[in-house]
Amino acid sequence: MNLHKLITEIPHDPELIQALDEFVELNLPEFKQVLNDHPIKIPWGGAFSTTEAFWTYFLIKSLQPDIVIESGSYEGYSLYYLLQAAPNADAYSFDPYNTPKKVGYFQYHPYDWTEYDFDGPLIDAFVFFDDHINQDERLRQAKERGIKHTLFHDNFLHPKAVHSHTSLRFCGIEGFAKFQFIFPRLNCDPIFESTKERPQYYAWLTYCEMLEE
Ligand SMILES: C[S@@+](CC[C@H](N)C(=O)[O-])C[C@H]1O[C@@H](n2cnc3c(N)ncnc32)[C@H](O)[C@@H]1O
Repeated sequence: MNLHKLITEIPHDPELIQALDEFVELNLPEFKQVLNDHPIKIPWGGAFSTTEAFWTYFLIKSLQPDIVIESGSYEGYSLYYLLQAAPNADAYSFDPYNTPKKVGYFQYHPYDWTEYDFDGPLIDAFVFFDDHINQDERLRQAKERGIKHTLFHDNFLHPKAVHSHTSLRFCGIEGFAKFQFIFPRLNCDPIFESTKERPQYYAWLTYCEMLEE
């Protein structure tokens, strides 16, 4: 069973949960290698956890997009996983305020992604938004560009969280299937430590897939 099917059909089916557990167990050694080789050892600036990195890496790997785009790179912590997951893709990083480090080969642009004129179709592109811009607006921009796969970070579920942006977690979205990641097997390895406590608050990734017309 492929990961795409797994993450788009969780969380309720016990057989799929079991399959996810097996997926984690089988793929943990590969992920640990990628993690180990990460040039940024201590991530700062709202970078995502290793749990989120795990699912992002394998989701992109299973989709193998032609183009990967990150909006909101900061130092490049998450960008590294995008590059590792899709090594043959053309990679773009957009961040007006922070320049990512050299975490692989990518084009960096110090402005908003909407200002860039992509040369060609974006149907097979994968966009990762971690820029704290309203997510419904970002999804509309992705839709206008015909992008099928978008992933959003920072969907705070904590009741006391302060939101600086509209989170797709709380919006209806038209024309897309929306999948909230959960993190099963939170206790299975120490590298997932940061999301172990109160896992119900750690649904911080939302994957949106454009529906066929
Ligand atoms: C939470 S940090 C990103 C963390 C990063 N993904 C990581 O893993 O380290 C948010 C970033 O969004 C950037 N940002 C703010 N406005 C932006 C925009 N319009 N387009 C792209 N990035 C933006 C900020 O400069 C900041 O570096």
